[in-house]
Amino acid sequence: MGAMFPDGFLWGTATSAHQVEGGNVNSDFWVLEHTPGAIFQEPSGDACDHYHRYPQDIALFAELGFNTYRFSIEWARIEPEKGHFSLAALEHYRRVLGACHEHGLTPIVTFHHFTSPRWLALEGGWEERGAAERFARYCERAVQHLGDLIGAGCTINEPNVPLLIRHMGFLPPEAEAVFSDPPWRQGFKKSLGCIPEQFSAFIFGDALRARDTMLRAHRLAVEAIKSGPGDFPVGITLALSDMQAVEGGEARRDRAQAEVEEVFLEATHGDDFVGVQTYTRTRFGPDGTLPPEEGVELTQMGYEFWPEALEATIRYAAAKTGLPVLVTENGVATDDDTRRIEYVRRALQGVTRCLADGLDVRGYCYWSAFDNFEWMLGYRPTFGLIAVDRQTQARTVKSSARWLGAVARANSLEGMKG
Ligand code: BGC
Repeated sequence: MGAMFPDGFLWGTATSAHQVEGGNVNSDFWVLEHTPGAIFQEPSGDACDHYHRYPQDIALFAELGFNTYRFSIEWARIEPEKGHFSLAALEHYRRVLGACHEHGLTPIVTFHHFTSPRWLALEGGWEERGAAERFARYCERAVQHLGDLIGAGCTINEPNVPLLIRHMGFLPPEAEAVFSDPPWRQGFKKSLGCIPEQFSAFIFGDALRARDTMLRAHRLAVEAIKSGPGDFPVGITLALSDMQAVEGGEARRDRAQAEVEEVFLEATHGDDFVGVQTYTRTRFGPDGTLPPEEGVELTQMGYEFWPEALEATIRYAAAKTGLPVLVTENGVATDDDTRRIEYVRRALQGVTRCLADGLDVRGYCYWSAFDNFEWMLGYRPTFGLIAVDRQTQARTVKSSARWLGAVARANSLEGMKG
């Protein structure tokens, strides 16, 4: 019985607007992708055209066996100019939510997943304190229109990621140059007519300043969302790495954990759940982060294949916050789908051990539904349960999708071969 999940456990996949919708032309990332000297491998373009294909996509998720779908609504579409809201964009997301209900999927809505409207980035993005109020106003407006259909709400996706990637050295070396004086920042000046320092888009900017604004924005957004229609749980989602210390690395590990994770976990006070998002582990020695351990398999992202990270981070997040946990992202970039099944199976075994110890884990969303736009790395890493031919937009369901869908239907790992 150890492999069973509680009744009502949420099983699904996750996406974000910019990574799958396509044509997010009014967002700050679109600008970055098209600036000369961009550190993006390729622009997001049409992505998976999910903006138009959501009805078939959502029907497919249900057919596979899932009972939830986590996706984000796009601020750059809903508030294309500061203070001007698009009813057409809100209506679009109402239809997406409606499709989820029609197919029996609980919609988990993320209000901000990395991208912002251009106008916000031009005002200094999250580095500018007033962004917190602007974000809360957008959430309030979105909830007025959509709240009655939302199943759970995530305010900001991974506000700790700008700090995490700096600590972990997760960016490729050429991307590190972005933080000093790279040519693309000059390109900005030309294309946007502002000095580069005025433009701040999520991961590119002063991470500490942005952290404070985002944490304040989160609190204001929870309040705004709670005051609207609907009665659903609200939380934040955090990028958590299984931070391990080896050979005298405890102090470095503890410092990183405090700065990159604890501050954010402490800010969940008053929330209904904490969204755990985990991909791998990070090892620390006395001088800082260590490279992957010899002999450990690597994913397409260059980090270790380490599904056990999920159990460790669920335990950590639950202990620090005392809140129910929702696994809002977990997955692996690989072109070998049998390794994806192995990764998810081991990650889920970790979830069952947490459940057996009485931890309140409410659901599991695999990242991602599709092979999609992996930010600076473009379309090369393939995290998806479903492959997408970007010429024809044809979807091909992978074995891992059928396998996880069957686990979802059975609400159990028992006897699930893959
Ligand atoms: C982000 C996703 C990203 C995924 C895989 C998470 O940090 O929320 O947008 O695609 O990791 O790298």
